[in-house]
Amino acid sequence: MRDKVTILVPATTANLGPGFDTLGMALDIRNALTVSVADDFAIEVEGEGAAAISRGPDNVIYQAIRTAFDRAGVAIPPLRLQVRSDIPLARGLGSSAAAVAGGLMAGNALCGGRLSMDDLLALGYAFEGHPDNVTPALLGGCVASAVVDGKVAYARVPLPENLRTVLFIPDFEMPTKEARAILPDPVRRADAVFNLGRVALLVAALSTGRLDLLRTATEDRLHQPPRQAVFPAMPLLFQAAIEAGALGAFLSGAGSTVIALCVDKEEAIGAALAAAAGRASLSGRILATRPSDLGAGESPDHSSSRRF
Ligand code: HSE
Repeated sequence: MRDKVTILVPATTANLGPGFDTLGMALDIRNALTVSVADDFAIEVEGEGAAAISRGPDNVIYQAIRTAFDRAGVAIPPLRLQVRSDIPLARGLGSSAAAVAGGLMAGNALCGGRLSMDDLLALGYAFEGHPDNVTPALLGGCVASAVVDGKVAYARVPLPENLRTVLFIPDFEMPTKEARAILPDPVRRADAVFNLGRVALLVAALSTGRLDLLRTATEDRLHQPPRQAVFPAMPLLFQAAIEAGALGAFLSGAGSTVIALCVDKEEAIGAALAAAAGRASLSGRILATRPSDLGAGESPDHSSSRRF
């Protein structure tokens, strides 16, 4: 068994518009987690949402580490966790999936890597209840996933190399549990067909570089319209981003972040999002970043995100 490991784990955006609970993409924003065998249990957190993160054994990262130890059949020693958090909490950027993926990866590394990626994906899904954030958090890139008997079937969606993202991260939170509770069930067949066409188009458009299709391919009728009840300005932000040159725009995961896809014009899109947010009296911040091929792992951090 190893006595210390540092894991970098990416933020993720889920759904990408129509791919509710099935599509997710890692972003070039990362948390760093160092776990070492220690004399006493301790959790230290700095950065985004540090005050809101539990320092007790109920901490999600610790729970995930513990799960990896249990599954590997290794008794867990007292651990010291040091977390540097760059992923905003409850903004649809996969902070919870990053905690789970980082913890599972760290626990598995400390135990000597006995668990396979399929094991980690199944454990991650069991924590999250949907696979679309935790799959790209573990694997990196853009990933389509489906759950089969508790296991995650997945395939990478190749992305155009020049694809970029501009984020408006509101100051208000949309906790996933609440943002899922407002979704209607069952859905209308016409809405299901609308989304099926768009998600198929989105995967095809991304993998073949048909960026001209992204505006249509990022539309959604399953989760964004009902979520407008708690985020009425959402369509105005989408429209502002498109008018400034974005190829498509969507609510990131369960919100509240809005993401615009582009290949250039990041500053103009950021300025348009900020202006639209201002008109709607919404405070928040703009971040330009890009998809990342790196999933959770011990790789160096090459973050190229820019705040402006
Ligand atoms: N697919 C999930 C949702 C993502 O939209 O509720 C949550 O981050």
